[in-house]
Amino acid sequence: MPSQQEVKALNTSPEENSASTYTMGYRENFRILLSRRNAENCAAYLLPHLQPGLRVLDIGCGPGTISMGLARAVEPGELHGIDIEASQIDMAQDAAQSGGHANATFHIGDVTDLPFEDCSFDVVHCHAVLMHVPDTSAVLSEAMRVLKPGGLIASRDMFTESCFFEPGDDLAAAWTTFANLLQGNGGHPRLGKQLKGSFLDAGFVDVVATASFEHFGTEEDIGFMHGFVIGWFFSPETVGAAIGHGLASQEQFDSWRGMLDAWRTNPDAFGAFSWGEAIGRKP
Ligand SMILES: C[S@@+](CC[C@H](N)C(=O)[O-])C[C@H]1O[C@@H](n2cnc3c(N)ncnc32)[C@H](O)[C@@H]1O
Repeated sequence: MPSQQEVKALNTSPEENSASTYTMGYRENFRILLSRRNAENCAAYLLPHLQPGLRVLDIGCGPGTISMGLARAVEPGELHGIDIEASQIDMAQDAAQSGGHANATFHIGDVTDLPFEDCSFDVVHCHAVLMHVPDTSAVLSEAMRVLKPGGLIASRDMFTESCFFEPGDDLAAAWTTFANLLQGNGGHPRLGKQLKGSFLDAGFVDVVATASFEHFGTEEDIGFMHGFVIGWFFSPETVGAAIGHGLASQEQFDSWRGMLDAWRTNPDAFGAFSWGEAIGRKP
């Protein structure tokens, strides 16, 4: 297994388009995972700060499932979403139209170079985005620029080392391989724990950090998660990337697959993703 420094060497420079190294990709099974998200289960730490009339920017909005609840919370204020991937923006626009969110507008663009005026938003929100973009400070500096004085930045990102499948101690190495892949693509597997420091470094004040779990405990959740992991982590693309970068062997993947199948049928099965959240204010 390579060291963190060696994995880091897989990294592209921050100057390269970060979407080209986006670890999760845009396959259907990841879209289904995102479709389970909404403002209530992913932005509960932010919702009490939203009120009608605020102007909110959701950066890296993906298919917009969280954006819809943000739009609802600030109506008749505006919700703008931006993502680098056109297919995601198409889905977000469709969701806004079918949900009747006339105050929501979506744009194709890069979170490191936002196409918005200085001091034009009350809130910048991002969910599971900073952890994937190599240059965290470039994103936070753009968020600072487009926020009005006193405006809020809010982000929620994973810290993969505390994600688990239980029973499944032997699957810890699979989580480490996911973290190494993320890091090799320029991402930040521990960012959920580091948001407070990142916000303070970027010049935000009154920073409050919290944490929460996205858990899988019901029969339906466990079946969903089993299918998602098979379709994403065990896909030829992910296995090929991990083996190609020397992060794991085919034998390890075969062994993890057996453990995952055993987890699926174990009556004690439980699992969770660990997330850190932070809110800060532009001085
Ligand atoms: C894990 S998804 C999260 C989507 C959404 N925020 C959610 O949690 O449901 C990350 C999103 O960030 C977008 N993204 C990655 N790098 C980006 C960049 N440099 N500029 C804009 N969007 C980017 C991806 O296209 C993807 O839609």
